[in-house]
Amino acid sequence: MDSAQEKQYVSADAAKKFTISILTGNGVSPQNASVISSCLIQADLRGVDTHGTNRIPSYMERIRQGVLDATANPVLNQITPVVAQIDGRNGFGFLAAHAGMTRAIEMAREFGIGMVSVKHSNHFGMSAWIVQQAIDAGMMSLVFTNSSPALPVWGGREKLMGVSPIACGAPAGKEKPFILDMAPSVAARGKIYKAARRGEKIPGDWALDGEGRPTDDPRSALEGVMLPMGGPKGSALAVMMDVFSGVLSGSAFAGHVTGPYDPSKPADVGHFLVAIKPDLFMELDEFKQRMDYLYQRVVGSDKMAGVERVYYPGEIEQITHAERLQTGIPYVEAEIAALNGEADKVGAEHVVVSRTG
Ligand SMILES: NC(=O)c1ccc[n+]([C@@H]2O[C@H](COP(=O)([O-])OP(=O)(O)OC[C@H]3O[C@@H](n4cnc5c(N)ncnc54)[C@H](O)[C@@H]3O)[C@@H](O)[C@H]2O)c1
Repeated sequence: MDSAQEKQYVSADAAKKFTISILTGNGVSPQNASVISSCLIQADLRGVDTHGTNRIPSYMERIRQGVLDATANPVLNQITPVVAQIDGRNGFGFLAAHAGMTRAIEMAREFGIGMVSVKHSNHFGMSAWIVQQAIDAGMMSLVFTNSSPALPVWGGREKLMGVSPIACGAPAGKEKPFILDMAPSVAARGKIYKAARRGEKIPGDWALDGEGRPTDDPRSALEGVMLPMGGPKGSALAVMMDVFSGVLSGSAFAGHVTGPYDPSKPADVGHFLVAIKPDLFMELDEFKQRMDYLYQRVVGSDKMAGVERVYYPGEIEQITHAERLQTGIPYVEAEIAALNGEADKVGAEHVVVSRTG
């Protein structure tokens, strides 16, 4: 195997310790560093490598450029008994979203539902970690965010909407919980950055190059636009994310969110978070049984030709999570080098690779 593509496995514990040391070395408090690092490691464990620790260099660059405040803590403003607002104060999106979902869950426990609008935040990585936070508390959830322009609206050719993920979830009984987390593009833009990092090609239907032509070259794709999934429908979902996360919150919207790789100014991302108590209309046991039945019906459905197994939304990532807890998280050499480069900048130790292969 080409040594550049050879995988270097890092245990979740080692990756967490390592990311905490970089974050604290850049001025983040140990408590906040622990929250941020858990979110990043969860993405790596779930196989969403595009939104995990590999993002550390870009986040640290934003701190160095003074466009992300490493020391900011989110501020809560209670609007009604079931509605709260979080001002992310241009700190890490992970912290603002974590504080927002924590409050949404508290409100849902007491009143059945909790809704939180988050403003002046930053990129929060993989939405599924917030859905998982709600599931761990026994709650259903909606998790929306907006993001920097990468997608044309249907019929347009300029980057206007973000590839903003729509996510939601619900706990189950003995079966796997429902976790939907999807970008409204054919693929998340992070997958193009990952292919570019790894020197890989991308499928021809993911993006257009700067001239508006389909391309399988990730670098050309980054000069062009992502393609929305399902044509006008994906484009409409991206607008929906902007309405709920950007317009409603008071954050940037309509193409004015700054990208995570653009260290020229604050991102001003908005999020929209809802937690819902699942036993509002029936006993919890009955709800869980109904979720389990839904899971069984979905994965047990008759398969189309060539398909070996039907998966529930979020299930592939949950399987990967269980596997990677055992095997460690696979990175390629260039990714390890970029992360160790960040460690060198703050005098932290290099990441501990447990095996290669
Ligand atoms: N914070 C941001 O601004 C931002 C922007 C874009 C994407 N993201 C993140 O990028 C990640 C990747 O997004 P994506 O749209 O490329 O995800 P994806 O296409 O890999 O998965 C989307 C959904 O489809 C499900 N799925 C995939 N294959 C399946 C199969 N064979 N059977 C059944 N279900 C299946 C997944 O479980 C998931 O719920 C997400 O975690 C998202 O939150 C974040």
